[in-house]
Amino acid sequence: MGLPEYVKIVEVGPRDGLQSESVNVPTPVKIELIERLAQAGLSVVESAAFVSPKWVPQMADHSAVMMGIHKVPGVSYSALVPNMQGLTAAFAAGVSEIAVFSSASETFSRKNTNCSIEQGLARLDEVCATAQAGGARVRGYISCVLGCPYEGTVEPSRVADIAAELIRMGCYEISLGDTIGTGTPGKTRSLIESVAGRVPMKSLAGHFHDTYGQSLANAYAALECGVSVFDSSVSGLGGCPYAPGASGNVASEDLLYMLYGMGIETGVDMGRLISAGNFICNFLGRPSGSRAARAIAAKRTLTPIGL
Ligand code: HMG
Ligand code: MG
Repeated sequence: MGLPEYVKIVEVGPRDGLQSESVNVPTPVKIELIERLAQAGLSVVESAAFVSPKWVPQMADHSAVMMGIHKVPGVSYSALVPNMQGLTAAFAAGVSEIAVFSSASETFSRKNTNCSIEQGLARLDEVCATAQAGGARVRGYISCVLGCPYEGTVEPSRVADIAAELIRMGCYEISLGDTIGTGTPGKTRSLIESVAGRVPMKSLAGHFHDTYGQSLANAYAALECGVSVFDSSVSGLGGCPYAPGASGNVASEDLLYMLYGMGIETGVDMGRLISAGNFICNFLGRPSGSRAARAIAAKRTLTPIGL
């Protein structure tokens, strides 16, 4: 299969990136980060999570964040929603795209959402139906698609079953989450082939965490299979509170550098993306987790990306 001419990057830094930060990030800082990311040309910025503040206190200011953003027309500011309570709050805050989440591992499902996969899917059925009836678009996540921190190996056919179920509920896109970043390109390819046997390739997105430095290689393997949507976090922020030891997502700057170098259009401006990354890294008091951002800042090379 030929490579796509255009790739959609779904920026998940303000949610996946900040949800396990030990530093308290004030609401105005989150809002400025989200606004800078939208100004960089990202068409989807996952901005908050309407989950329980007892479970994830970092996302407790979800409503204030969503209501405080100066929204750019054409940009979707999506939010994670686990249940009807979250959906009600998300609607009240003006959210028009939600992301629901399931897991391909039973233990992870219980640790992350306090219910079995089956109970979780039943919950999501109602959430998806109500969200769509209220005019919202719904995206679906599946976690632990390439391995579980508690159960180890995960069968691709299990992931494919859940993907088919989420599509049936009306999800327009399924993001395949390598939550703990243990996947490698061969496993990624087998997974995509298996899942694409059940749901359209164009509805699949790759969501790769970088624990073992494989996130970009996995994204490339998925790209070769025909996937043209990828989730990433500015400066490689993030992790999941219920996946101890997992590192952040593939860095948006590194993903963009690869795609740009391959002549693949994204609509994202590297200079503005790096400046959004600098903004949050300065706040957090640490260097960027993006190798591309660090190399460009150090003027280590002639920059082929027009900076
Ligand atoms: P639960 O404790 O089973 O919920 O949590 P419950 O229905 O039994 O209610 C218990 C209490 O929670 C009640 O309050 C509810 O009001 C409250 P109390 O009466 O005790 O004061 N509650 C809520 N409060 C605010 N917002 C809500 C909400 N729901 C209940 N929406 C629940 C179940 C799903 C809510 C909880 O387990 C939870 O919030 N989990 C989310 C964990 C999370 O956010 N994980 C990280 C995101 S997923 C991820 O990172 C993976 C991903 O990136 C892809 C990948 O990498 O694989 C997406
Ligand atoms: Mg994630």
